[in-house]
Amino acid sequence: MIVVNPAPLDTSYVPEKLFFRDDKIATIQSTVIDPSASGITNNIIIHGDSGTGKTSTVKFLMRDNKSIIYENALSFRNVKNLLEHVISRLGRPVSYRGLSYSDIFSTLNSIISFRGNIILVIDEATGMLKGDSTGLYNLFRASEIYGTELSTILISMESPFMYMERKYGTIVELKFNKYSSDEINRIITDRASMALDPGTCPDSILQYISEISGQFGSARFAIELLQKAAYMAEYRLSKTIENDDVRSAVSLINP
Ligand SMILES: Nc1ncnc2c1ncn2[C@@H]1O[C@H](COP(=O)(O)OP(=O)(O)O)[C@@H](O)[C@H]1O
Ligand SMILES: [Mg+2]
Repeated sequence: MIVVNPAPLDTSYVPEKLFFRDDKIATIQSTVIDPSASGITNNIIIHGDSGTGKTSTVKFLMRDNKSIIYENALSFRNVKNLLEHVISRLGRPVSYRGLSYSDIFSTLNSIISFRGNIILVIDEATGMLKGDSTGLYNLFRASEIYGTELSTILISMESPFMYMERKYGTIVELKFNKYSSDEINRIITDRASMALDPGTCPDSILQYISEISGQFGSARFAIELLQKAAYMAEYRLSKTIENDDVRSAVSLINP
């Protein structure tokens, strides 16, 4: 057995320790989370390539903050649909005919008046950012138009710069940079120590995976490579992971 604990090799795993993102955490905390607790709404757009820790960083922040609600934009046609879902999640009925924006925000106002401020995270929002200008306008200006204490954290792979319209108001932009090979090495060393039997994954393998993944700056790619290579080695009934297992893993995944 090489893999003794598969969970940390899953790309949806949110680790106890998030490396190299203290500055991003502090920025999100100080621009959105802290102000929201005192009734000030701000909006932020997080962007950066795949595997740069965008989703994990907000999920990490959600552990200590019950006012953050997470949704993935890919499950919804548009902003209105997503907000209707949030409302029904929070226990309010939504008629099958749907709601108008003013219905939506007055319902949110009443929810917020007893539940407290809400910070809405919309992950994988590139499509929404390009395609739903009315929705974004209502969402980003909700505080001024409807008096709703709703802050939004939007997450997108592409830089939002091209799609941002003036009417959305002031939005903080936060870019997540690619990880260097050394940073990736630190991240996967941690995962390997949690997931793999000691002695089955030499440092040279972690180094090799980090070098390959460093080209893309993606921790996701690195973790997937580690996972696939480990199972490849298990399948061969080998006691350790070898370079060839990593090479086979590379041919299975696109970064
Ligand atoms: N700074 C980090 N420290 C530890 N693990 C990380 C870090 N950044 C990313 N990861 C891991 O890499 C994988 C991909 O990260 P994710 O947050 O999904 O990236 P993104 O949302 O930017 O595509 C996840 O398994 C995540 O736990
Ligand atoms: Mg993500």
